[in-house]
Amino acid sequence: MNIDPAALEWREAYKLLIGSIVPRPIAFVSTVDGHGRCNLAPFSFFTGICAEPMMVCFAPMIRGTDGAKKDTLANIEATQQFVINIVGEKLAEQMNDCAIEYPPDVDEFEQVGLTKRKSECVDPPSVLECDVHLECTLHQIISFGEQPGAGSLVIGQVVCVHVNDALYENGKINTAKLQPIGRLAGQAFTRAVADTFELERKK
Ligand SMILES: Cc1cc2nc3c(=O)[nH]c(=O)nc-3n(C[C@H](O)[C@H](O)[C@H](O)COP(=O)(O)O)c2cc1C
Repeated sequence: MNIDPAALEWREAYKLLIGSIVPRPIAFVSTVDGHGRCNLAPFSFFTGICAEPMMVCFAPMIRGTDGAKKDTLANIEATQQFVINIVGEKLAEQMNDCAIEYPPDVDEFEQVGLTKRKSECVDPPSVLECDVHLECTLHQIISFGEQPGAGSLVIGQVVCVHVNDALYENGKINTAKLQPIGRLAGQAFTRAVADTFELERKK
């Protein structure tokens, strides 16, 4: 079957996208608005780009309910900074609760009972309960429209990586201790270390 995504209603196209790109890592993004109010939300259209400079990106879509820009994007446009907090399984429920559409003045840290940790190099606080924090300054935002179904690519430069000492071993992060989770389609999530296998990289 061949499907022309441009011929689909955006929600149908979205279902194909999230069913194809699986599993997806989750960026739990903390930001502040122009008044210093904190915001926290998960984004699974997320990946790394390169190591030197260390660049990452994630993609907030236009809000499907009212066609508005998500608070995370508005805050990054206003302040040029954000933190990507890496979510372990222990924080899955609180992460999911931060996807509720709260008004911009609601602080999701307080709503879901997570603790603010002062970041080293940027103003938005990190999530203390997360074991890895990527503190970022904005490099570029590429917008693909303002209609529902559209979105933006937010590219950030990581200016500080903070790793919980308990997970940091010989310059690497212990994945088993991190217990990362990934998002699948619909309501489904996966445990990244539940069923792993190794492949030798051939020369
Ligand atoms: C696991 C998970 C992954 C998500 N990934 C995305 C994403 O990649 N892009 C997006 O626009 N929304 C995504 N969402 C929905 C946002 O988190 C949600 O719209 C949230 O309310 C945005 O918050 P904000 O307006 O405070 O930025 C995701 C939700 C969950 C639970």
